[in-house]
Formats: sequence, C-alpha cells, structure tokens
Amino acid sequence: MATLATTVDGLKFLNPFVIGSGPPGTNVKVIKRAFKEGWGGVIAKTVSLDPSKVVNVGPRYAKLMSADNKEVIGWENIELISDRSFDTWLDEFKAAKDEYPEGILIASIMEEFNKDAWCEITERCQDAGVDAFELNFSCPHGLPERKMGAAMGQNPAILEEVCQWVMGVAKIPVWAKMTPNVTHIEEPTAAALRAGCQGVSAINTIRSVMGVNLETLRPEPTVEGYSTPGGYSSKAVKPIALRMVMEIATLIRKEFPGRTLSGIGGVETGADAAQFILLGADTIQVCTGVMKFGYGMVKDLCEGLLSFMESKGFETLDDFKGHSLQYFTTHAELVRMQLARKAEEAAAKERAGMVKSDAEWDGDDFVKQSNALSRQAPS
Ligand SMILES: Cc1cc2nc3c(=O)[nH]c(=O)nc-3n(C[C@H](O)[C@H](O)[C@H](O)COP(=O)(O)O)c2cc1C
Repeated sequence: MATLATTVDGLKFLNPFVIGSGPPGTNVKVIKRAFKEGWGGVIAKTVSLDPSKVVNVGPRYAKLMSADNKEVIGWENIELISDRSFDTWLDEFKAAKDEYPEGILIASIMEEFNKDAWCEITERCQDAGVDAFELNFSCPHGLPERKMGAAMGQNPAILEEVCQWVMGVAKIPVWAKMTPNVTHIEEPTAAALRAGCQGVSAINTIRSVMGVNLETLRPEPTVEGYSTPGGYSSKAVKPIALRMVMEIATLIRKEFPGRTLSGIGGVETGADAAQFILLGADTIQVCTGVMKFGYGMVKDLCEGLLSFMESKGFETLDDFKGHSLQYFTTHAELVRMQLARKAEEAAAKERAGMVKSDAEWDGDDFVKQSNALSRQAPS
C-alpha cells in the first residue's frame, strides 16, 4: 500500500505537505488547527527579535481573477514579516509542540546582517523546541533598507556568511529559503549549501505590480493613494516555481547529493505536488492555497497525491522523486534529436514506398518499384 510518510533531514513527516510561512502560520491557534487537519508540518510566519520595527499596512493584498471572475489566479501581497512579540512567539512554539509533539514545527527566522542577532534568534527558537529552521532570505518587499529578506538573499556572499553563523549554533536542520528575484537561483542556493545548510526552500514570492486602477489611475493595492511593488504567488507562479525547483534539484544532484529541497509556489492539488516531487522536491509547501481553500484542503492534497502514486504503482515518494529531471536537455539537443528522427522517418518512408500495391504503380517510379520487388538470383 502506498504511503505519503517521509523522513527528510531526520524529520519524520506524516505526509510531505507543509504550511508555507505566511498568514496560515501566524499564531499558535492556526498552527494547531493545521496539525489537527493533518498537515505534515507547519512553517510559522517569519519572526525577528524586534517586531516593533515591523509596521504593516492595509489593504495589503491584491488578487488577479480569471475571466469569469470566479477563480483567483494570482495573488500579490505587500505584507511584512510577523509584527508579534518574539517572547510571545517562543511561548507559542512551546505550546504548539506540547499539544502536537508529532507535528513538524519549523521556525522561519529573519534578521539584519548582524552575527549576534542571528545567533540569538537561532538559539532562543531552538530552546523553545522547534524541529527545524527556515532562514528567510527572500521577502521581496519591505525592510530592504535594513538589508533583510531578498536584499540579503540576492547577495550570495552575504547569504553564505549568515548561513555559516546560523550553522555554528544550530543543532537542528536548517533550510534556506530562496528568492526567485535573481537571474540564476543556483548561485544563492550553492552559497547556502556550501555553508552547510541541510536544505533549501523555493520559491518565495515574485516581485510584481498587480495592476493600475483605470478609474483612479493608481496602482493596486493602493494605500493612501500610493503603492509599492509586492510579492506574487498562487497558481500563476507554478510554472516559474517548477523551473526553479528543477534547476535547484539538478544542482543538488550534481554538487550536493543528499541535501534536500522544499518546493513552493502555486500548489493547490495533489497533481501539482506530484509534479514538484517529480522535479526533485522532498516536501511541498502551500501558503496562498490555504488562504483560498482553508486548512481542510490537506485531505484532498493527500488523496490526490496518493491516487497519482497508485495509478503509477509507486509505493513511496522516493520511488518517483526527481524522476522527470532526466527529461530536460538543451534546446540544441532537442533540435538535433528532432532532425535525426525526421531523417529516420523519411528513410523508412522511402524504404516502404518502394513496394506499392499494383493499383499505386506509376510511370515515374516504375523502374525503382520494379527493382524494389526484385531479388538477384544467386550466381
Ligand atoms: C500574504 C503572504 C504573506 C507571506 N509571508 C511570508 C513570510 O512571512 N515569510 C516567508 O518566508 N514567506 C512568506 N510568504 C511567501 C510564501 O510562504 C510562499 O513562499 C509564496 O507565497 C509562494 O507559495 P504559494 O503560491 O503557495 O503562496 C507570504 C506569502 C503570502 C501570500
């Protein structure tokens, strides 16, 4: 019988579905709800030591709807990391682990470029009993003036140094969360893995402008008449996320075998998850999907993934993890293979065309056709 249970970096997940950092993991009440509904893990909303510097605005979301206005295709947010007190968070981490010891609870942490701050936040969260860390190097908006989030994740040298600080004190697994707002995601990924992180997560949101209101001529979401670029997520980002997951998984196989990958971006169904796993993901995170459909969606996710596995005869996630990576090659190679196939088909057609039915014989090919039907007598 197929199973979704999986062990990643020594963490035992009931299933590979993990709440991605954001509103669905914003306090202990919702974290407990996620475990109750059956999520394999929860990555809490990103925390920092001094939340007084975090000031959110409203509205802070904007949605791109389908043509019939029934479905959310894309979602932009200009939300910052958690504005809740760090001490409260430590109490809540303890409370969540007390009630759901089997649930994998991962703290998402983010700090300025300051070794003491990174070491302090790491040590205090792990003392509170979390199972692992995700380092947020990827929030695309807000806090760049403090060189936090994507501003840090876009600089592989800085990212590597911060990962080394964290790895110096962490006693539990560490995943570095990558920003997609770079040209080559392999570069920051390699920096994090060189520094010793057990894994990476990808992707965070894509820097975006949702649109301009044609009545007011103001960009959305409009706050006090103005806006700022935000982070794009949901269904629309899945193809970009799959591409980046493929690139990271290829790098891991070549240069960092054994390291792990948490795939994120637009997952809404078990079939979406199967595609991320086929491209090398160990776990699957969902954030906006939970904001659209609620925590109960994990049951459909599990059912959908299991039914895919059963249809293909896969017993475990490892049976198909990364299977489809072998089918990527260069464009030049696609051209070479296609020309070779067409040449082979033409040759086969010519061979077949030599022997036609009597009704098809014609004057132009008469000699060739006669020849094709002849065998020379042995001398
Ligand atoms: C409203 C909102 C808030 C988010 N906040 C955080 C955050 O605090 N930390 C973080 O690492 N990612 C944050 N994210 C990014 C998500 O964890 C995820 O990487 C991204 O949204 C893509 O996945 P999705 O399409 O499943 O949402 C946030 C996303 C949304 C939509």
